[in-house]
Amino acid sequence: MKAKTKIGIVGCGAIGREVALFIDKQLSGNVILWGLSDKDVEKAELLSETLSCSPKIIPVDSLIKSVDLVIETASVEAAKHVIEKALSYNTDVVVLSVGALVEDASLLEKAKEKGINIYVPSGAICGVDGVGALSLGEIRKISLTTSKPPKGLVGAHYLVEHKISLDNLKEEKIVFKGSVKEAIKYFPQNINVAAILFLASSFSGKKFASKNGKPAVEVCIKADPHVERNIHRIDIDTEESKVTITIENVPSKTNPKTSALAVLSTQYLLKKLFSSFKIGS
Ligand SMILES: NC(=O)c1ccc[n+]([C@@H]2O[C@H](COP(=O)([O-])OP(=O)(O)OC[C@H]3O[C@@H](n4cnc5c(N)ncnc54)[C@H](O)[C@@H]3O)[C@@H](O)[C@H]2O)c1
Repeated sequence: MKAKTKIGIVGCGAIGREVALFIDKQLSGNVILWGLSDKDVEKAELLSETLSCSPKIIPVDSLIKSVDLVIETASVEAAKHVIEKALSYNTDVVVLSVGALVEDASLLEKAKEKGINIYVPSGAICGVDGVGALSLGEIRKISLTTSKPPKGLVGAHYLVEHKISLDNLKEEKIVFKGSVKEAIKYFPQNINVAAILFLASSFSGKKFASKNGKPAVEVCIKADPHVERNIHRIDIDTEESKVTITIENVPSKTNPKTSALAVLSTQYLLKKLFSSFKIGS
């Protein structure tokens, strides 16, 4: 019989918790949730107590060294560290804080050289496999407009730096327009979807040209007091297709910056990895 794949999770917050419960309940035939790590040890301990597989609470580096697959659900900074360590210990990685892979593109190169698998769930959007497929053709332009309830943007560096207040907002307000790299820098916890789109659109390795000095993937972020969901509208113009996707996500109950779909897409990716039937890409 095949040995069970040993999995570790770094980050036991909104996503890490739901993913741990899913592995424990639904994937236990193929995998074992071996360990958990969080900079807040108490969070990891509380989560472990709710799981029947009783994962160990273990420091990040030792966890990555001990498992076959590590799932990062913590932060962009944590993701960079997790991937670096995974490279040294030959551990495969699922990355949720996707900005890390855009900020430091060398991580993907190093993973390729080492033969490490890096998996990126489609996160809070749909159609990522389609964008990857279109990257093999001719993409002309991608734009992403994200509208969030003001509380989903609270604490973002950019708002603080630019003294943008969202208190008592009555109308929709554009708070940011720019490139994916800028969006990730200023909104690391809010705009993983921009990073996912960027990675999917460059999957083929072809760079598509930016026109009129505009970024190839344009990002616009709006605070809207009239919406209760995190809404992403994606427009893609390519030689082969014109695509418009709108996703209206219910924010996670435990973290309004995170959408419930980001949890489901991570669970789906894991289910697909450990299933003999694979649909989509
Ligand atoms: N890919 C996507 O579509 C998508 C969607 C939503 C969120 N995210 C990202 O996934 C990550 C997790 O999201 P969440 O909603 O679960 O966040 P959360 O704040 O609810 O949980 C994060 C957890 O990670 C822990 N943590 C932070 N830094 C750490 C470190 N260096 N080492 C160990 N633990 C650390 C925190 O203590 C916390 O328990 C965030 O970076 C978020 O931006 C990605």
